[in-house]
Amino acid sequence: MIITVGSNKGGTGKTTTATNIAVALASKEKDVCLIDADFQRSSSKWYQDRQESQIFPTITLVEKYDNISNTIEELNKKFDYIIVDVAGRNSREMITGISVSDILLAPHQASQLDLDTIQELHEQITRVKDLNPNLVSYILHTIASTNPTVKTNERKEFEDYLHDFPSLILLDTCLYYRKIYRDVMPCGKSVIESNNILAKNEILELIDEVLKK
Ligand SMILES: Nc1ncnc2c1ncn2[C@@H]1O[C@H](COP(=O)(O)OP(=O)(O)OP(=O)(O)O)[C@@H](O)[C@H]1O
Ligand SMILES: [Mg+2]
Repeated sequence: MIITVGSNKGGTGKTTTATNIAVALASKEKDVCLIDADFQRSSSKWYQDRQESQIFPTITLVEKYDNISNTIEELNKKFDYIIVDVAGRNSREMITGISVSDILLAPHQASQLDLDTIQELHEQITRVKDLNPNLVSYILHTIASTNPTVKTNERKEFEDYLHDFPSLILLDTCLYYRKIYRDVMPCGKSVIESNNILAKNEILELIDEVLKK
């Protein structure tokens, strides 16, 4: 199973989502390979910290840039899950990644600047689906407000915006703004390895929702 975590906007929570779901799947005794396909190397730095601190469960990390589709397909023969972290822009890695993926998981915040990039994402997906018709695309609301009124308004904004793009499925699970997501990153950890139950549950809920569909 190949999941590319990608969007055309920087800072939407792609690396946070990719590293957290990689660990969550590994904690379910799956063999997981995280591919860092972003020159910024955020996932690789996180992984290096995880290795140095000898944190279990272990996952594998591979760095690959440019056309990544062959590498993904080769690795997919050896691992239960391939999670691909790409850069926050329209990149060759994102296009070649989703051309062989089962799932595109696209984190977005409920800001107009983030939502504006969905049109471009939709066009990319339409083109890639000519080559990979089975690709399923999910939009994940990230860095969401925990304030109940803002939360309801943000959700509505998302639903209204996505109404015009029926092939993009908005996940029920949201990743809320929680400091723990920032705090675990420099330790090479996932929030599921913290004692923040709310963050832990939303990551577990996320993988359940994505895999069940
Ligand atoms: N749910 C969250 N709550 C609080 N902070 C978050 C959350 N998700 C991500 N962040 C923080 O937001 C910043 C951007 O997140 P991240 O690096 O995961 O985004 P990205 O989409 O991978 O960025 P880039 O496009 O640069 O690769 C980081 O500082 C991260 O710790
Ligand atoms: Mg990133």
